[in-house]
Amino acid sequence: MSKIDQVEAQLKTSPKKWLVTGVAGFIGSALLEQLLNLDQTVVGLDNFFTGHRKNLDDVNKEVSPDKWKRFDFFDADIRNLSDCLKACEGVDYVLHQAALGSVPRSIDDPITTNQCNIDGFVNMLVAARDTGVKRFVYAASSSTYGDHPKLPKVEDQIGRPLSPYAVTKYVNELYADVFATTYGLQSIGLRYFNVFGKRQDPQGAYAAVIPKWINAFLAGKQPVIYGDGETSRDFCYIDNTVQSNLLAATCENVEALNKVYNVAYGERTTLNQLFQLIKDGLLPFKPEIAAIEPEYAPPRKGDVRHSLADITRAKSLLGYEPAYDVKEGMKESVKWYVGSGE
Ligand SMILES: NC(=O)c1ccc[n+]([C@@H]2O[C@H](COP(=O)([O-])OP(=O)(O)OC[C@H]3O[C@@H](n4cnc5c(N)ncnc54)[C@H](O)[C@@H]3O)[C@@H](O)[C@H]2O)c1
Repeated sequence: MSKIDQVEAQLKTSPKKWLVTGVAGFIGSALLEQLLNLDQTVVGLDNFFTGHRKNLDDVNKEVSPDKWKRFDFFDADIRNLSDCLKACEGVDYVLHQAALGSVPRSIDDPITTNQCNIDGFVNMLVAARDTGVKRFVYAASSSTYGDHPKLPKVEDQIGRPLSPYAVTKYVNELYADVFATTYGLQSIGLRYFNVFGKRQDPQGAYAAVIPKWINAFLAGKQPVIYGDGETSRDFCYIDNTVQSNLLAATCENVEALNKVYNVAYGERTTLNQLFQLIKDGLLPFKPEIAAIEPEYAPPRKGDVRHSLADITRAKSLLGYEPAYDVKEGMKESVKWYVGSGE
């Protein structure tokens, strides 16, 4: 039996209370869906900055009414400490996802990014500490590797951050570490590498590449590739990311605590390959996209050239076993976007 199967079986027999911040977002709503499916009690917090009520409605449709009853939603802001304290009351595990994502957004608006990602993060740490939360698991980021040239990326070797967003995510790690040594708050940081899957927002200037391109194809438009298309990423399907959160929250190995982990699949895909993968996935549903070719534009500021994770640490200390590679994950994602009319 895999570690995740053991954890899920145990949670079913001994349910816990969880707080998911950023619950109306892409990753937060996926965590909510899985936790409710495992009969957990979930408190969710979001201010709908980049998240959507329709994501919560979608989870409601996916789970049975008795499971949905175990969910309490706070329309609240992590920049407000009293909101964080209220949300943390009686909670066993926090899965902190709320933040302003996107490197370009942080370059356009470093102040709001800093307020949500650093002030909000410290509020959540204080709230977790003061309400006796057992474990604080948080969304860290592969952007913390910055300009470090080594591939694949290993957790202890990072470079200089390349954007305000990357600074905020690195500062999160420093604060979590200080809260562990100073106040004994147990935490685990998950450095996500380009997560993708259902409910990821395809709209707006700061949309992530996969939903944005799927949307472009579905609208009969040319997806835009910034640079020559040989930029590469370690794309990670959402189910793998959800798995890492459950493992991190419940892990009993003390060696594993107060550390950061790469969360990825461990394979590199170039943007040119990604373009083809999405196109191949959509062709059976939309044969008319066969003639669409990418449009190339100048590279964007703050983007790293290559990203690939070494996931040895997460495998050995957390029992992480990513079940979906990029191809399998893409099949699932494409089906959802075609079906949902996004
Ligand atoms: N998606 C990725 O590839 C990726 C990669 C690395 C790290 N991350 C991190 O994972 C987390 C979740 O990302 P996502 O892709 O689901 O993004 P998302 O934008 O879909 O979700 C973030 C959620 O946080 C909420 N939020 C933002 N500021 C808030 C505030 N001040 N108070 C309350 N709620 C607030 C938003 O409304 C949104 O629902 C973020 O911390 C992000 O930085 C994501």
